[in-house]
Amino acid sequence: MSVTDALKQKVTSVTETAKIADLQRDLIDQSKGGLTTDHGVKVSDHDNWLKVTDGTHAGPSLLEDQIAREKIHRFDHERIPERVVHARGAGAHGYFKVYDDKASKYTYAPVLTDPSRTTPTFVRFSTVQGSRGSADTVRDVRGFAVKFYTDEGNWDIVGNDIPVFFIQDAIKFPDIIHAVKPEPHNEVPQGQSAHNNFWDFVGLQPEASHMVMWVMSDRGIPRSFRMMQGFGVNTYTLVNGKGERFFVKFHWLPELGVHSLMWDEALKICGQDPDFHRKDLEEAIQSGAYPKWQFAIQVIPETREHDFDFDILDATKVWPEELVPLEAIGEMVLDRVVDEFFPEVEQVAFCTSHVVPGIGFSDDPLLQGRNFSYFDTQITRLGVNWEELPINRPVCPVLNHQRDGAMRHKIHMGTVNYTPNRKQEIPPVPHSEGGYYEYVSTCLFTIVADPAYELQLPRESLGYEAAPARG
Ligand code: HEM
Repeated sequence: MSVTDALKQKVTSVTETAKIADLQRDLIDQSKGGLTTDHGVKVSDHDNWLKVTDGTHAGPSLLEDQIAREKIHRFDHERIPERVVHARGAGAHGYFKVYDDKASKYTYAPVLTDPSRTTPTFVRFSTVQGSRGSADTVRDVRGFAVKFYTDEGNWDIVGNDIPVFFIQDAIKFPDIIHAVKPEPHNEVPQGQSAHNNFWDFVGLQPEASHMVMWVMSDRGIPRSFRMMQGFGVNTYTLVNGKGERFFVKFHWLPELGVHSLMWDEALKICGQDPDFHRKDLEEAIQSGAYPKWQFAIQVIPETREHDFDFDILDATKVWPEELVPLEAIGEMVLDRVVDEFFPEVEQVAFCTSHVVPGIGFSDDPLLQGRNFSYFDTQITRLGVNWEELPINRPVCPVLNHQRDGAMRHKIHMGTVNYTPNRKQEIPPVPHSEGGYYEYVSTCLFTIVADPAYELQLPRESLGYEAAPARG
């Protein structure tokens, strides 16, 4: 191993988080051992396909050669569908810590309140419009998706580098994306968001104006992923130990400040180094210049929802900081590059619906649609068992009666796969023992957060929570 490689290895393995430890069981050291087939048989010749020959002619290749066939079969199926948006991206591992427990007045989620914790994270930065091979320095929105591997399950903040969005309601998402993507008749342009169909759509959709101003400003061409702000954009909720609910927006503030490329620089770099941003991220981490963001929240008590002269659940608006100040509560550092791009960056899959106890959703109609969309699209891209993939699996136990589907990895020991069951296997977990809770359904039309929820939950003989009475 060269000195540079040794240094690189040392620098890239500073933080051994629970997730890094979890991934160890799937890491392959390819410096040891010889070539085998996928079924483990040692291979002596990987260059020549078995042929029938009369000694003069090369002769046709024989289907008999199972080793050659396997090599070609596997190659033929290497591609999976790219993401329908945000196809071009780069990722890295890191960790998240809160400074203290001051957010406990808003939430009981330990990831946001326990300063003794180091929560592993995986971040994927992306562009939106271009396909997987498009250039990095195009004018576009950038994705800023963070997966927190908490002890209470995975929590994903699937954000962007711009605080607002083009549309108010998720039902318009296919339209804005069709309009911004390459045009349907000739698949042009690649990676660029300013073109005829885009201007046609946003000109007819006034709610897009705010976001268009951001995209067409210098923010549209960041200098580095390390110099981007991140925003959860949508309004989520926090719930504290007393059952009080708060609306919240999430913010990432880069330690290096926010910097952009000049339009002329960006165009030149597109040609000279289309991998500019992903290389910048990798090289910074490898040289020990770990990118760092402060994590801040903006909080509005649920009771103050209508105290503003704009709809606080409308994702085309920001919450002015002079009305709702940022509260910095933690920080995230990215300190480890990936070992292999495909199983980590390509297979990582985020869902806005992935929250942990103490965090929930608002009625923001964009968020509501997103909560449906992400799981659904992962099924197309990765298959229904995508949460078993190494980069996606939680670091805490996963136990339920979900079964089967393509590419199932887990093997459950037991004779029941349903609930309720006579053995009381895999019972629901009450809120007092960590079960997720944000709402109690009291009637079809009134759904309220009820602080008395715990008191209403006598566990029945089978260990299941009684449904609160409808009233
Ligand atoms: C606030 C607005 C939105 C933001 C901030 C946002 C952000 C993102 C980000 C960062 C990704 C890339 C995730 C990754 O790195 O793998 C992504 C992917 C995606 N988004 Fe959104 N998005 C927004 C709105 C929507 C809406 C309204 C929908 C649908 C109703 C949607 C559907 C998707 C889909 C289908 C993907 C591809 C996911 C995958 O294949 O992994 N997004 N989004």
